[in-house]
Amino acid sequence: MSRRDGILRELGLGPIWRLRDRPADVVADVATDAAAPLGVPPQLTLTTPVALGDDRAARIAAMGWDELKTAVADCRACALCQARKQAVLGVGDIDADWLFVGEGPGAEEDERGEPFVGQAGKLLDAMLAAIDLKRGEDVYIGNSVKCRPPGNRTPEAEETAACWPYLERQIALIKPKLIVALGRPAAQTLLRSEVKISASRGRLFEHQGIPLVVTYHPAYLLRTLHDKARAWEDLCFMRRTMKGL
Ligand code: URA
Ligand code: SF4
Repeated sequence: MSRRDGILRELGLGPIWRLRDRPADVVADVATDAAAPLGVPPQLTLTTPVALGDDRAARIAAMGWDELKTAVADCRACALCQARKQAVLGVGDIDADWLFVGEGPGAEEDERGEPFVGQAGKLLDAMLAAIDLKRGEDVYIGNSVKCRPPGNRTPEAEETAACWPYLERQIALIKPKLIVALGRPAAQTLLRSEVKISASRGRLFEHQGIPLVVTYHPAYLLRTLHDKARAWEDLCFMRRTMKGL
């Protein structure tokens, strides 16, 4: 067995991940074209008095975990509240050094109230295990949007913007040492700019002074075999980065 095959097997990235059908909870392909730029969408600024928006953001910025949980569970700030079964805040160690951020809940996450519990989640767990990490142990896992986009479509810019104060508050409460953006939507949410995963992986970014790296979304890796070796490189890069912090 080649070294690469061995590593991929260790990662759980061998043939067992070669799904026959596109899984139902697969989210948008990170390699597809640019999402709309982030930021407060024009229609919101036009119809929502700025002071109101600021007030909501300020309230969320002052919340503790209990308030945050309730606020997210009851949130109706964007259209994604309509079809969700439940909002999914995040899971894990609230003092974690590692924060992984995905795109948004899929069907199983919406059902169970926990991020990354479907097929993509199994791969994420294997990726974590490959660098000696475990869900819940020094690791927190969250998403860009807390409610499932219908049909697992990519969240719209206004949905991501409406949900952003929650993720921002989670980051402020957790104070992770390293943030890992999983896929393009998460990377764009956190970096507030157009991002291509292929051009951004292996580089060190920062979000408000917190080191940040980007890698492929596990749902993308499930169907793009040839990028799995790159995902392994990214895992090594993030582990090295963490060690150097
Ligand atoms: N994909 C995501 O981006 N997040 C989840 O929680 C599940 C699948
Ligand atoms: Fe609120 Fe975020 Fe859910 Fe939209 S996605 S309703 S902003 S919790």
